[in-house]
Amino acid sequence: MCELQQQQHRTVNPPRPHPSTHNRQGMAGCVNVTGDDVKKLDVLSNDLVVNMLRASYGSCCMVSEEDKELIITPKDKRGKYVVCFDPLDGSSNIDCLASIGTIFAIYKRVSEGEPTVEDALQPGDNMVCAGYALYGSATLVALSTGDGLNFFMLDPAIGEFILTERNVRIKPRGKIYSVNEGYAKYFHASVNDYIRHKKHPEDGSSPYGARYVGSMVSDVHRTITYGGIFMYPANEKNPEGKLRLLYECNPIAFLVEQAGGLATTGTQRVLAVRPQALHQRVPFVVGSPDDVNEYLSFVRKYQ
Ligand code: AHM
Ligand code: MG
Repeated sequence: MCELQQQQHRTVNPPRPHPSTHNRQGMAGCVNVTGDDVKKLDVLSNDLVVNMLRASYGSCCMVSEEDKELIITPKDKRGKYVVCFDPLDGSSNIDCLASIGTIFAIYKRVSEGEPTVEDALQPGDNMVCAGYALYGSATLVALSTGDGLNFFMLDPAIGEFILTERNVRIKPRGKIYSVNEGYAKYFHASVNDYIRHKKHPEDGSSPYGARYVGSMVSDVHRTITYGGIFMYPANEKNPEGKLRLLYECNPIAFLVEQAGGLATTGTQRVLAVRPQALHQRVPFVVGSPDDVNEYLSFVRKYQ
């Protein structure tokens, strides 16, 4: 635990004054459980989410990208829900002011008595609610309780989120592919063949446009809004990809499926994966159904 984290943990209750705005950027001086450099805003946002959830009396335990172990809610503040979250996704974009977000998935607990890791290791198909907040040109919350996907926009004048799009549907096919092509050297041949096909379609159709912010919430929100495909596939250096199942892939897969899209690891539906560990990674491909199915046809071609 780095100094900033220790400071935050010491002051979790009661609320402490936040550092002034100009002091919130930069590194916290440590790496998190999955080896990413931790930024000050990562620590601050994690602290904020954990405190808000404890104060809600709704959660019994939590999984955060920033905490190695399961976070158990104090007994007198426990509710029946398990919350898995990435408090600030897209950390590498903090200092350049590109859009970043918060992602969460909510489950009902399965154990009785003291909450256990089993409560958190539920397949995505058990999810009762998921969402993300996107801090972009506006602040948006995408939310689903399993009956379609809705968008809420923050109206700063009244400090409330307004329902702006009800029952959002993703296009069957888009015109944009989104992947960190810098890893092409390490991708499986099927991934590179698929990308080549997007750039040089054999049927005479127009090539796809390429977009990659590097904040999954931004890349996914664009994919839901305009259609297309977002991919973080496995590569030689990261055989399971980079993105974490419990608090990155599962909630996004849930939201995209609720909008009529697909989310796959390349071998199975993301929401069907039985989690083995809190910070498990999976290859992740998500988006318009025709685009994801086309990607899967390239996977099959190489099997
Ligand atoms: P983070 O949770 O540490 O910010 O990492 C997750 C982010 C995703 O938002 C994004 O899709 C991915 O990392 C980008 O990684 P890369 O720089 O390898 O393309
Ligand atoms: Mg993340």
